[in-house]
Amino acid sequence: LRVALLFGGRSSEHAVSCATAAGVMRAIDRERYDVLPIGIAPDGKWVLLEDDPSVLELTRGHTPAVPESATGVVVPTSTRDRGLRTLDAGQVPRELGEVDVVFPLLHGPYGEDGTVQGLLELADLRYVGSGVLASAAGMDKHFMKVVFAGAGLPIGPHTVITDAQWRHDPATARDACASLGLPLFVKPARAGSSMGITKVDSLDDLDAAIEEARRHDLKVVVEAGIDGREIECAVLQGRDGALPRTSSVGEIVVRPGHGHAFYDFEAKYLDGDAVELNCPAEVPGEIQERIQALASQAFLALGCEGLARVDCFYTHSGDVLINEINTMPGFTPSSMYPRMWEASGMSYPELIDELIALAME
Ligand code: DAL
Ligand code: MG
Repeated sequence: LRVALLFGGRSSEHAVSCATAAGVMRAIDRERYDVLPIGIAPDGKWVLLEDDPSVLELTRGHTPAVPESATGVVVPTSTRDRGLRTLDAGQVPRELGEVDVVFPLLHGPYGEDGTVQGLLELADLRYVGSGVLASAAGMDKHFMKVVFAGAGLPIGPHTVITDAQWRHDPATARDACASLGLPLFVKPARAGSSMGITKVDSLDDLDAAIEEARRHDLKVVVEAGIDGREIECAVLQGRDGALPRTSSVGEIVVRPGHGHAFYDFEAKYLDGDAVELNCPAEVPGEIQERIQALASQAFLALGCEGLARVDCFYTHSGDVLINEINTMPGFTPSSMYPRMWEASGMSYPELIDELIALAME
């Protein structure tokens, strides 16, 4: 099978996506799959890249990026042969041959949010993961909550500040935030990897946190801090229309003393000692089952396909709440999603096989 890996992209999670692609390129079974690495540069240009994962790793000393200057711009065509063509700098079409399936390893806006999925639908290409609506709703922390609440799933107290509200009636927005208590988590509605998120411990810092979030998205979601543990669950679509499968649950523990007030970008990707990813998490069996059931219900409520990671809170009072869903979760071999499957008996290469098989169904 010919698999096009799509990565990079126009979002602030460009480097994370490159790292995800490196992980897949290293692990994918080369006997079964012919890999076509297609990077999307930060300016949106699609380029055919070398099949070399080493340049795509994310470390403190190296932030990978798809080069904007590369030649070989890839243009997806809407032909029925499921083909892709490239145009070189001289605009001479260079055939890539047939592509059986696209693996969009993109995080954040313009990749995880339904835009690429819409393009692939239009081009009549098969792809891994959720379709347009689930991707779009899963990217937007506001509409995600609307869907979960509509399905009767437990979510935490929050408020949404639109651009118009913030510009014309900030006092009401501030009051809504204040009524949630402290601390608050102020988040851009559509971003990922904790970009633009601030933990607010005093209302004096609220405006600055809202402005910071607005640098990523003019719509801001403000959530009440939840007193509890962050427990995650990996979900895989069932085969042949079966119900979703869920993994053992995993726990994110932010170690004190590393200067991270929460599981922020640094702690996620750069400061290896700052967090512990415990899988399986030490929770009572009954709590694990509740989280697995909620993860499956969240997947179904949003109409997800392929994969998703559902992040929950297990509160100190014993409740379980859904924090969010990620339709293209971090997918390096050390990321939580593959690790939760590993702990459930499915290796990283097997997981890649399974996702491609689901896309081909
Ligand atoms: N948005 C990042 C990649 C995650 O959810 O893992
Ligand atoms: Mg999360």
